[in-house]
Amino acid sequence: MSPDTATGRGLSPETLAITLGYSPAQAFGAAKPPAVLTSTFAYQSAQHAKDVHEAFFRGTGPAVGASDAYIYTRLGHPNLTMVEARLAALDGGEASAVFCSGMAAITTTLLALVRPGDVVLCSRPCYGGTDGYLTTVLPDLGVTTIGLSDGWDAANIRAAVVEAMAAGPLRVIHLESPANPTAAIVDIAAVARIAAELAVVQGFKPIVVVDNTFLGPLLQSPLALGADLCMTSLTKYCGGHSDLMAGGVTGSADLVARLKALRTLSGNHLDPFSAWLLLRSFETLALRTDRACSNALAVATFLRDHPKVAAVTYLGFIAGDARTVFDRQCRGTGSTFSFHLKGGEAEAFRMLDALRLLRLAVSLGGSETLICNPATTTHYQTPPDRREAGGIWPGTCRVSVGLESPADLIADLSQALERA
Ligand SMILES: Cc1ncc(COP(=O)(O)O)c(C=O)c1O
Repeated sequence: MSPDTATGRGLSPETLAITLGYSPAQAFGAAKPPAVLTSTFAYQSAQHAKDVHEAFFRGTGPAVGASDAYIYTRLGHPNLTMVEARLAALDGGEASAVFCSGMAAITTTLLALVRPGDVVLCSRPCYGGTDGYLTTVLPDLGVTTIGLSDGWDAANIRAAVVEAMAAGPLRVIHLESPANPTAAIVDIAAVARIAAELAVVQGFKPIVVVDNTFLGPLLQSPLALGADLCMTSLTKYCGGHSDLMAGGVTGSADLVARLKALRTLSGNHLDPFSAWLLLRSFETLALRTDRACSNALAVATFLRDHPKVAAVTYLGFIAGDARTVFDRQCRGTGSTFSFHLKGGEAEAFRMLDALRLLRLAVSLGGSETLICNPATTTHYQTPPDRREAGGIWPGTCRVSVGLESPADLIADLSQALERA
């Protein structure tokens, strides 16, 4: 079968990341998509205005490449359509909704799905912002969050589900796998199977949402593992240069339509220029992913063997049952992980302040290597008991390995560790 460049059928992810969502016939034959920097779109006539509104609110437009179907940029715009088509294809989803940040994607998804009295089950550890939203914002709306630790084990998943259902109707299961900052993994397929069983018990199935930020679409496909929605902070590996913010959710057309309806009313869509940048970034995702993964292996191996490092949580080193889950659900080891320094905050701060090449900053997935102390930065707001239960200690440092020479990165870490 010859590949279909319009739908992407028959094309590999590396090719989809470069071609899907734009054709030169859409814009003056331009080989590359233009950035359509406008906030509004002119109608051809009053009847046309009525028709496009009808199509939009009935959920039938705008279609990819339908240049006459746009209304107002908050409702949708050409660069958003292009980036959504590409992300959906890469994740293997029917549709996608792209937002102005990962947190906008997460919070809009939760708000679209939960109602007062509902329960959310959330794997731990998870990104501090997600944890904060689930434990400080949603409780004010009458929604309870129950935590799931060591979610690679089916017995732990079942126990957490029982606890969650005792607290009320279990509406959403939010998984972050691999998790920020330790790269802990959750058995996504096992959770999806258990969620399907709950449809009979509860009368409805909890929606399984997976935050795929740590690996991204090329290294893990949560939808193929049974998740209903796949969420990715596109600010990270997909954006890839630490110069834009975006978040995407993929899944069935029905579920994604619910998110888009709320996005239109919340105004947290992705703007045209960021969508254009992101579309361009997708083109090098495969190359960047390969290089970041091989660099991370070299850095993690160096750290594991260093006398001042107590442990490294790099995915390539996991063993036992968690390893079996990893082998089944991930296609690569990623480039963000944590290491625990012997000692605590003082040792970590001395090392961080001695670094010359690695940048001391939060975030991950950029071309440059970033490092931070999660307990005092990304997970500052997570209470110490929850942090420590998730494996985040005062001496824990998270590193996002970039695309530099691994020898230079190791030399910098080596000299900085002398000061720890
Ligand atoms: C795993 C994970 N999910 C979600 C987010 C939120 O994404 P954003 O910063 O794009 O809002 C982050 C940010 O670091 C993250 O690490």
